[in-house]
Amino acid sequence: MKKYAIILAAGKGTRMKTELPKCAYPLLKKPMIAYIVENLYKSTVIDELITVVGHKKQIIKDILNSRVTYAHQEEQLGTGHAVMMCKDLIKEPGYTIILPGDMPLIDELVIKDAIQFHENENNDLTVVSTKLNDPSGYGRIIRVKKKLQAIVEEKDATEKQQEINEVNTGIYIVDNELLFGSLDKISNNNAQNEYYLTDIVKVLKKDNKKISTYLLKKSFKAMGINDLYNLSQAESILRHEINKKFMRSGVAMINPDTITIGDNVVIEQNVTISPNTYITGNSIIKKNAKVGPSTEIHNSVIGEDVNIKHSLIYNSEVKANSTVGPFAHLRDGAIIGENNRIGNFVEIKKSSTGKTFKASHLAYIGDAEIGNDVNFGCGSITVNYDGVNKYKTQIGDGVFVGCNANLIAPIIIDDNSTIAAGSTLDKNVPKDTLAIARSYQVNKENYFKNGKRINIKKK
Ligand code: UD1
Ligand code: CA
Repeated sequence: MKKYAIILAAGKGTRMKTELPKCAYPLLKKPMIAYIVENLYKSTVIDELITVVGHKKQIIKDILNSRVTYAHQEEQLGTGHAVMMCKDLIKEPGYTIILPGDMPLIDELVIKDAIQFHENENNDLTVVSTKLNDPSGYGRIIRVKKKLQAIVEEKDATEKQQEINEVNTGIYIVDNELLFGSLDKISNNNAQNEYYLTDIVKVLKKDNKKISTYLLKKSFKAMGINDLYNLSQAESILRHEINKKFMRSGVAMINPDTITIGDNVVIEQNVTISPNTYITGNSIIKKNAKVGPSTEIHNSVIGEDVNIKHSLIYNSEVKANSTVGPFAHLRDGAIIGENNRIGNFVEIKKSSTGKTFKASHLAYIGDAEIGNDVNFGCGSITVNYDGVNKYKTQIGDGVFVGCNANLIAPIIIDDNSTIAAGSTLDKNVPKDTLAIARSYQVNKENYFKNGKRINIKKK
């Protein structure tokens, strides 16, 4: 018996009123469809994942790549039609869990539990339902003598039916053969002229199959994202849940409502996070680090006892005991060594620094490899780009780069050299050397006489 999952992600998301296909929208900087796929993997009960794509399908495929198999729905004729597109991919006997791609708060516990229920009940179809104070927008669960009879979409519901507060979450677990057999019998004769997946309930009921509902108690998990307001609500729920989990495990947060942590982030104990900080992607924050205020960290590793203020760090690493900021920018594989000081308005790109490196103010370092105990003076830069290609700068141990120097790459500055302030260098510097590349100063005395500057030309 094979267990399949189908995720429906072909729709336009018309109610979002924007360009991006709905299921690609991010929550805490991760696309909502990625949550669903990751949680299905975490549940460990599914053998094969199929995602139905259609509208702007390449965007969804770029997010999920080879984590799933794809079915294509060229025209979006409804959720039932979307599932029909999987017929050729679901050949083996077993059951399928179907989930909408716009429900990112569904976690692996719900998936596992609902499947367990389906198996225990020996059901042909299980519909996951929940109860909402405000059921508007959702399909309503119709019961006769407490037994599930049908699901009616809001647009097709009578006023009386609209008062029902038990709704369809859009998650179903259903026997494979019966699923496709019943889809063959549904029509698009309804308010939206769509093939509704929900209509399989009526068909299977008529055929006397064993159907029932699994009631999800924590209804917020079943929130469907239909517009940008829903997206902000779901994001706020998720943010709160993640922050709570971290605070309970020894991470201090000052004003946590302003702190956003992605759900793949790892934060060790005794870390303090200050307001207006985002830590997202596959970031790791190690013990005793202090992060923020006003800092963004994405896909980066922050070492023990590091202190970061008002800075941006993307796809980079900062090793133990270093300080970053205020107003530093580390990106594209910057690797900052131990005990570094990366100060005000310093940008470091695709470069590595050794131990006790210092760039305290106003510097650009790109495509450079820097040794231990180097000081990089205020206003100095690596000139890594000639308008066509990028070149590397290599700086050895113990080098002192004075203020306002231009190091025109490719260039090697060997160990213990000193670069005079204001130099523009385009040749390598051997070790233990002082390199000066600037005009010498000329002092013309008595230039200011009798309260006036002298006009040299006239003289
Ligand atoms: C659907 C359910 C409704 C339920 C609600 C839960 C139907 C008819 N209605 O309504 O009972 O309460 O979800 O959130 O199923 N999609 C496709 N192809 C299509 C149409 C939709 O792939 O042709 C995808 C969408 O991308 C989306 C999902 O299916 O991820 C659900 O579609 P949506 O239009 O949001 O359905 P709802 O109106 O919310
Ligand atoms: Ca929806």
